[in-house]
Amino acid sequence: MTGYDPLNTLKPVAADLWIVDGPVIRFYGMPFPTRMTVVRLATGDLWLHSPIAPDPALVAALAGLGPVRHLVAPNWIHYAFLPAWQARVPGALTWAAPGVEDRAASRGVALRIDRNLPDAQADWGGAIDHALIAGSDLHREIAFFHRPSRSLILTDLIENFERRAVPPWMLPFLMLAGNLDPDGKAPVDMRLSFRKGRAALRDSIATMRGWNPARILLAHGRWYPENGAAELERAFRWALR
Ligand SMILES: [Fe+2]
Repeated sequence: MTGYDPLNTLKPVAADLWIVDGPVIRFYGMPFPTRMTVVRLATGDLWLHSPIAPDPALVAALAGLGPVRHLVAPNWIHYAFLPAWQARVPGALTWAAPGVEDRAASRGVALRIDRNLPDAQADWGGAIDHALIAGSDLHREIAFFHRPSRSLILTDLIENFERRAVPPWMLPFLMLAGNLDPDGKAPVDMRLSFRKGRAALRDSIATMRGWNPARILLAHGRWYPENGAAELERAFRWALR
């Protein structure tokens, strides 16, 4: 139970776009609910953003949508289940944000990376834009934009934990971190890591603004189904003032 049941189940968001809520993962000892995003490209191939654990029934359900061809590690700390997916879908390409390779190696995780983002030529049929959110000396995350549905796909740059879905002892930490629904945003330690790179971060925010998202998907907590552009301004106001 994570508050986002049913788990390991494809949930349609828009045409050719789904989310799948997954089990919790421990991070700094805290139970974080997980979520992946699935895009079906024009070719019929599937693109998996921040894959959750490959539950067998989920793998079968995905096979009903199309072949999994792309596995995406969108930031330096979101790669945990990629080796398991690589074993299940050996034909898929693994795309990784800066920092993933070093982090996985430092943790003894055997992860094969096929393409390094943001520089690799991403042939996703024009359906998905991407940009490195620059300016941090710690957190390197690639933001994605599903053009047909105008969906901004973030990972940890906005976290939006819901009180109803976390154990009570976790609340003081979340209040301190500033990542509680409805005012979800990057947690305070992540925000501080951008303090020397504010200009670069603002350029990155401008890129996301230019996408004019209708909604924002994220990995932890309640996602924002509407008013995407306004939610983007709200969630990044710490960087803009
Ligand atoms: Fe995360």
